[in-house]
Parts: sequence; structure tokens; C-alpha cells
Amino acid sequence: MENNEILKKLNSVNWNFDFSIPYGAGMLRPFNCRKYYSYPATFIPEIPYTLIEILSQKGDVVVDPFGGIGTTFMQALSLERIPFTFDINVVASNVCTTLYRLLDPTIDHENIRDLLVSLPERYNSVVDYACQLSSCRAELSGWFEQETFNELAYLFVSYDHLEITLAKAVLELVLSSILTTLSSQNKGWAYIADNVKPKPDELRRKDVFKQYLMSTTSLFNDINSHLNILESVWEDYIDFYDETARTQRVFDNSILMATINNCSVDLVITSPPYPKMIDYVKSQRLSFCFYERDFHEYVQNEIGARYRRTRKDALESYTKSVKQHIDKMKLILKTGGYLCLVLPDYDDNAKEKNRRKAISEIVNYCFELGLNKIFELGRYIPSHKRTLSIQWATLVNERIFIFQKR
Ligand SMILES: C[S@@+](CC[C@H](N)C(=O)[O-])C[C@H]1O[C@@H](n2cnc3c(N)ncnc32)[C@H](O)[C@@H]1O
Repeated sequence: MENNEILKKLNSVNWNFDFSIPYGAGMLRPFNCRKYYSYPATFIPEIPYTLIEILSQKGDVVVDPFGGIGTTFMQALSLERIPFTFDINVVASNVCTTLYRLLDPTIDHENIRDLLVSLPERYNSVVDYACQLSSCRAELSGWFEQETFNELAYLFVSYDHLEITLAKAVLELVLSSILTTLSSQNKGWAYIADNVKPKPDELRRKDVFKQYLMSTTSLFNDINSHLNILESVWEDYIDFYDETARTQRVFDNSILMATINNCSVDLVITSPPYPKMIDYVKSQRLSFCFYERDFHEYVQNEIGARYRRTRKDALESYTKSVKQHIDKMKLILKTGGYLCLVLPDYDDNAKEKNRRKAISEIVNYCFELGLNKIFELGRYIPSHKRTLSIQWATLVNERIFIFQKR
């Protein structure tokens, strides 16, 4: 498609998506990963969905080097593009892998759902499940009221005994996602990142099984209806999925380590971590405990982490790392391919001066590399995204940049 036509389309989009799109019954629509896992600073799915529709064709390769829980990945797959995603945070990558596996049309979803939904029936409140936990999982007890924790412990023990790998993966996703809401620390991810446990008088009884059943059934209902739509809008979905599933597509490491061929990618869509704003890894502290994994090895590779904000070289090392990733993105893009970057748009005041400078250095770097900017747009970040990320992340605006490799 000619750039003029692309620009016309890009300009006709309401990028605030502050209206409800009238997707009729049976119509393909964006898949909202964050409905199943609350993760900081995720894309609203409409952004990658729209960019993919306008900037690529069926069968094109679409990559997100900072893919989080897979928002770009799931839109690309749904739109019949060939997706790859990278994120050093294993918790986020696992969410993406499980959602991806659930879109396999050949699996018996009903069987897995029934197995998972039946688990609470075998809970016995007089049994002390918490005492059966490893020391790593027992660490979690400080975040929950006692009975609440015993019910969770029952689900952890059930998880260990599950033999069907996909059922285990789904239970992992659901359990991991409800840990934050069931914990008595209800002030947001930053308190969890900072290991600020609730005080004893803040401990609240929560209904574990109600939350668990709601999350599990809504996940399966939505997956089933998305799958039905995929199968009805393209006849060969089953073959396409089978073909894509033969290659690893979700990576819990850096794209810098990947062996993607140069000039093989049609479209890169990504939102890199913003400077000194979020602790993606530490915010998943509860899930790492459940996984029985130490998060320190992941933290070391995390770009822009908030906990390093007071280091003198924090911004310098941030821009250096993001530039290295942009080098890689340019390398893997085909000539004529597009790079879409969603970047923070800080207020023009003295407090944000340095972060503004870091972001403009990154944009200028794209020009230095010879990338051709075809589109730029500022958008307001809806408040629900900000309230989930609480007081440290007060960002109100972001900018979408689209570059083309010449
Ligand atoms: C703004 S979030 C992206 C969220 C994603 N767009 C989504 O919808 O889920 C940035 C992501 O970059 C990841 N990240 C941080 N450092 C990284 C690195 N060195 N390599 C790959 N990913 C990294 C974080 O874990 C986080 O998930």
C-alpha cells in the first residue's frame, strides 16, 4: 500500500479509542490480555490491533521486543500475522504463552475447564495446606489473611499434582493473576514491588474460590468465543495455528540474544519500558514466590527499572539499552518495514526535564539511523491505566511514532 493511503488511514483513527467500537456478534475484535492478568503499563489492545491492520498484510511477520503479557502478539495472531514476542520477565512471557496455547483450536477446552473448575470441591477446611508449602511459597503468608492463605495453599498443592500440562499452565496463570487481588495489600503494584507487606490489622478475609472460579470461567468463555470467531472468519485458522505453533514464538529473554534473520520482519510494534517508572519484575514478586523462582536474575536485565532511579547513571544506561534495542529492530526489519514506538510524553516542566531529554535522544537516534518518520501522534492515557499503576506512574500522555526503514 502507498504511504499516502497508509497516512490517510492512520489519520482517520481516533487514537484515544474513547468510544465503544460497535463490534457486531461474530466480528473479529481486539483480544484484551490484561483482562486476564493485571500487569503494569500494558497496551490497550486497540493500539497494536489498529497498527497491525493498517501497516501489515496477512502472513507478515510482526515482532514486539518488549512484549509484556503479549498484547501485540495476540492481535498479530488473531489478524493472521506471524508473531514473535520477547520479554525478560518470565511471569509476563508465561501469561502470553498460556493465552497463545489456549488459542489452539484442537485442544479439548471443556475438559481442561471442568478439571480446573472442580478443584475447589475437594478443599477440606480442617486440613492445614499451608504447612505443606515450600519455604519460598510459605513466604507469601505475610500478604494474606490466614484462612485465605490456606485456601490458596490448597490451590498451590493442587497445581503441583496436576499432570495435564495445559491445565497446569492455565492454573498457573489464574493463580498468579489473583494473588494480587486476594492479598491484603490493596494499594497497588508499587507496594508489592517494594515488599511493603500489609500490617496485621489490614489483613482481610477474601473469597479465594469465588475469585478463582470467576477468573477461570471468564477466561475459558472468552477464549471460546474468540476462537469461534477466528474459525468463522478464516477457514484455514486450524492450519495457520498448526504451522505457527511449530516454531517458538514467545521468548522470556532479550531480543538481543535472538537469532532472527536480518531483514526478515515486516512490522515492529513496541512500548519500551519508560525511564525510572516501573519495576516490572519486582511488581510480580508474589508470582515469583509462587513459581518458586528468584527474581534477582531477571531484575538485572530490566531496562528503566524504578528501583534504580536514584543511580547517577540511571538515564544514561536507560538510553543506551533502548538504543541497542532500536539497532536490533532496524536490523531485523525488511526495507520498507515499519517500526512503531509508543513512548512517554512527559510534562514540559523542570521536574521532567531529564526524562524528556532521554526520550528525545531515543527519537533522534531513530533519525540518526536513517529511519524515516511517517507519523507521530500524541494521545491521552486513559485514567484507569494510571490508577492501576498508582502514584509513581503519573504519566498522562504518550506518543506513537511510526518510522519506516528505507
Ligand atoms: C511497557 S511494558 C510492555 C507491555 C506490553 N506492551 C503489553 O501490552 O503487555 C515494557 C516491558 O519491557 C520489559 N523489559 C524490560 N527490560 C527488558 C529487556 N531488557 N528485554 C526485554 N524486555 C524487557 C518489561 O518486563 C515490560 O514487560
